[in-house]
This record gives sequence, structure tokens and C-alpha cells, in this order.
Amino acid sequence: MEMTQKKKAISIHAPATVANVGCAFDTIGFAVCGIGDTVTATLADTNGVSIRSLSGNATELSSDPLQNTASVAVLSMLNDLSETPPGIALDIHKGLPIGSGLGSSSASAVAGVVAVNELLGSPLTRRELIPYAMEGERIACGVAHADNVAPALLGGFVLIRSTTPLEILQLPTPDSMYITLVTPHIELRTVDARRVLRGSTPLSSVTKQLGNVAGLVSGLFLNDIKLIGRSLEDVIIEPERSKLIPGFYSVRKAALDAGAVGCAISGSGPSLFAISTSKPIASSVGDAMVEMFATHGIRSGTTITSVNTMGASEVELEHNSSTQECTVG
Ligand code: HSE
Repeated sequence: MEMTQKKKAISIHAPATVANVGCAFDTIGFAVCGIGDTVTATLADTNGVSIRSLSGNATELSSDPLQNTASVAVLSMLNDLSETPPGIALDIHKGLPIGSGLGSSSASAVAGVVAVNELLGSPLTRRELIPYAMEGERIACGVAHADNVAPALLGGFVLIRSTTPLEILQLPTPDSMYITLVTPHIELRTVDARRVLRGSTPLSSVTKQLGNVAGLVSGLFLNDIKLIGRSLEDVIIEPERSKLIPGFYSVRKAALDAGAVGCAISGSGPSLFAISTSKPIASSVGDAMVEMFATHGIRSGTTITSVNTMGASEVELEHNSSTQECTVG
């Protein structure tokens, strides 16, 4: 494959993502504006991929290139691209908390592969980068799921119709959809949140879930936010994972009482996301959720945001902030 190197260093911000979107376990996710991880890739004189620095919420992360989601994803890409890949140094800035359910491992993997791909003159398309970013997820949680990495790469809502073979479809983003993210200050690793899941499910639950997934996809196409909201209901995964999030049901009730059209666990948790039809409602929903977590003795932080339809994007190297247009309301 032809590689045309133009710059010596490039810095990419990859957004946080909400995987599952309630009912669609491992199959639908969307990207959000404003928060994410940034990876700077620099051509190095030494061979191989190294992690030169880790910053932000990265204190517990290993700088062993074989253990980090960004470098593992980059290594798998370089192995396919060239027999003699160039030396690459990665500087990883984690804006997202680890184990929060906001797609932290995915954001680093995506930022890593996009940065290195662009450094090499973009030999691969965004879609072609998805399987490599998925390798980062494999190292993080043991399963190469795509419902965080695909929206982080492509932006918007993304459906994983099939993992083997990989078939990814982009879904429409409704107008005037506001997202409240609330992250309780507890850590929940995806690997642990997958371990609690049951191996089998009653047919009646499968039927209900299928109706909700179809309702969610229909709501996205019909631009019907209320249909989307009531379709978030997850009768298969949430009953197990909610046990890992103290106060989950009362926090969700607080969100709905404050005006959200729907609320569910974000990814594997412990963050929750809620959907609202205006920014002021999204803000009141966040306050109500934080207050309710507090009554359970849990501190939490909130972000009011919107759907990021662009996916990972280049940032100014000096400023470390995204250049993309991604505003909230
Ligand atoms: N679909 C994955 C899960 C997302 O729910 O385990 C993890 O972020």
C-alpha cells in the first residue's frame, strides 16, 4: 500500500461515545460533542511504536505498547500496511475517565489509528480503520465490539448489523436532540460489567427487546425523539448491570420526572445518559440525576452535550482542542 508522509506529527481528538443506546447491546452507538481523548502521533527515528507520554486521566494506564488500546490498535494497522513500518511515538491525553462507560478505551484507539493513518498520508478510509480500532477494544475488555469505535470514527449514530463479517450502517441523527451524561464517581470496568451478563434470555424478553431496537431505529429515521426515548428500554442487559450502579432506578426516575424522554446506562456503565428535547430540560435533568445520586451517597459529574456527527478530528497541536464544529444548542 502506498504511504505518503506529509507531516512529522499529527494530533487527533476522538469523541466519547454512548454504546448500546439502551436496548441495542453491542449493535448501536453514537458519538457526543465536547469530550474525548487526544492522541498525537510523531514520526520517530527508532523502530516500532512507543508510548512517549500519558496524561490526563491516564495515571493507571500502562505505557507498554502491547497493553495500551491506542498502541495495540496502531500496531495491528501498521502490521497490515507495511513490512517495514516507520517508527511512531504516541502521546496520549485521556480526557475521558477510565471505566466510566463513555468509550474511553475506544477514544484512545480511534485517535491513535486516525492520527497514524493521517501521518502516513491516509492510505486507509475511516471505515477501513474500524477493525484496527476494534483490536484496541479486545485488549481492553476481551471482546472486539464495535459500538464505541465505529461512532467515534464515523460520527453520529452507527449500527453494527454484523461483526463477522463486519457490516456497519450510519443512521440519521435527529434534530434538536440534547444529551445529558451523568458519571457517578465509581469505576466499572467493561470486562467486569460483561462478566455479570446471563448466558441465556427468555424468548419473551428477546421479543420485547427486538421491538425496542426496531423502535429506536425507526425513531432515528422518523426524527421522532419521543419514540427514541421510550425505545431505550433494555430488558436483557440492564437488569443485571443496574445492580452495579447504586441508585440506578431512582436516578433514572429523577431524569424522566425532570422531563427527559428516555434514560439508560451508557455503554457498560456506570455513566447514565438521558435524551431531552431542549438544552434547558437537559440541564435540569442533569441536576436532578446528580442530586439523586447524592442521596445514595454517590458524587457524580454531568455533561450537557449533543450528538457529534463528524467523529474523530484533527486538533491544533499547540492547543490540544478540537477544531471541529460541534456545539450544544
Ligand atoms: N457494548 C459494550 C458493552 C460497550 O455493553 O459491554 C462497552 O463500552
